Amino acid sequence: MPETPADHPTYPVGLRLAGRRVLVAGGGNVAQRRVPTLLAAGADVHLVSPAVTPSIEGLAAAGEVTWHERGFRDADLDGAWYVMAATDDAAVNARISDLAEERRVWCVRADDAEAATAFTPAVGRHQGDTVAVMATGAADRDPRHHAALRDEVVTALREGRLAVGERRRRPGVVLVGGGPGDPELITVAGRKALMEADVVVADRLAPRELLAELPASTRIVDVAKLPRGRSALQDEINRVLVEEASAGHRVARFKGGDNFVFGRGYEEVEACVAAGVEVTVVPGVSSPIAVPGLAGIPVTHRGVTHDLTVVSGHLPPGHPDSLVDWEALGHARGTIVLMMAVENAAAIAAAVVAAGRAGTTPVAVVCDGSMPTQRTVLATLATLGETIEREQVRPPAVIVVGEVVAVAHPARD
Ligand SMILES: C[S@@+](CC[C@H](N)C(=O)[O-])C[C@H]1O[C@@H](n2cnc3c(N)ncnc32)[C@H](O)[C@@H]1O
Repeated sequence: MPETPADHPTYPVGLRLAGRRVLVAGGGNVAQRRVPTLLAAGADVHLVSPAVTPSIEGLAAAGEVTWHERGFRDADLDGAWYVMAATDDAAVNARISDLAEERRVWCVRADDAEAATAFTPAVGRHQGDTVAVMATGAADRDPRHHAALRDEVVTALREGRLAVGERRRRPGVVLVGGGPGDPELITVAGRKALMEADVVVADRLAPRELLAELPASTRIVDVAKLPRGRSALQDEINRVLVEEASAGHRVARFKGGDNFVFGRGYEEVEACVAAGVEVTVVPGVSSPIAVPGLAGIPVTHRGVTHDLTVVSGHLPPGHPDSLVDWEALGHARGTIVLMMAVENAAAIAAAVVAAGRAGTTPVAVVCDGSMPTQRTVLATLATLGETIEREQVRPPAVIVVGEVVAVAHPARD
């Protein structure tokens, strides 16, 4: 390759590779990391290597990559628009790079970024933006620094810390699941949606510490303080969401867990749709799975349970409005997770046992999941009612019924 003066900056460019042949020489870890990005760009990837990683083998088996199971041959460069020399033999990489240069095909070398005609920057993506970070010239090359800078920029974009103007902040409502309580357990997308909102309509169970991080300009509407007047609370919430979005604001409806798991989220979607307000959803980490997990209890376990049923216990068995088939749950053998069930736990346990489930079935009550006050109380179906009373269990709590409890707590009394 002709000498490139070190003080010449590189020329950044984006390649449109869709439908174009790309040669990848080598089937190891470098190829494994880079090939998915080439595929995402729509490239026609031809990979030459006597051996490949299992993941590349999977891509080849799925027909996403054409794998030539042998060493590199000069003719492999025929028709290629772009070449990646990523074998574990520096001499082969050098030869591929030289041949590519002769043919005026851009080439990157995995083993020596300075020795080929092109190199790959540190790349990150967020929504419709690609962040590519690279050295200005050879003397500035520091892959760790560039990867760290890329991470910093992409994380800041994701978390909404980097101002990107008003381009994406269309008015509308976004339902944001906040997770079980610990502010670390909201998703990256959820945190970003909160940070970008003009108005946050927050529930009692939504992780409140996150509200303290909101920009000073964000208006917070506390659902508990909404005037109810003649209308029910949910109607009032729907009205506020539609009114704020229609006034041109970006509204985040912020709830604990996931908004669609006993969260009335879909009623809010319907209200927005009926009013012509754009509505999107950011799912949350939901308590029936996350809270047992935080307490070290798996809701499924191989060889122990093949089913998991999540049930609202806010109405007791026999209540005329209850939609739960308690009889069927008594016949079930898998895991049952009861939510909103502290008050009716004794009646529920009795109904399930009467329908056939053993009174000795292990039960764990996990209270205040992910909060500093989190605790687990163990019982059986037969002792659940008295245990809840004795231990003064208060909501929020999830009640896990089934042998998975014994998997996590084999020494239970
Ligand atoms: C109205 S439901 C809302 C559930 C929420 N949308 C979700 O996906 O987790 C409230 C019930 O969720 C459960 N719950 C929510 N957060 C909890 C937590 N941090 N610890 C224990 N249980 C929790 C309790 O059973 C509580 O009564």
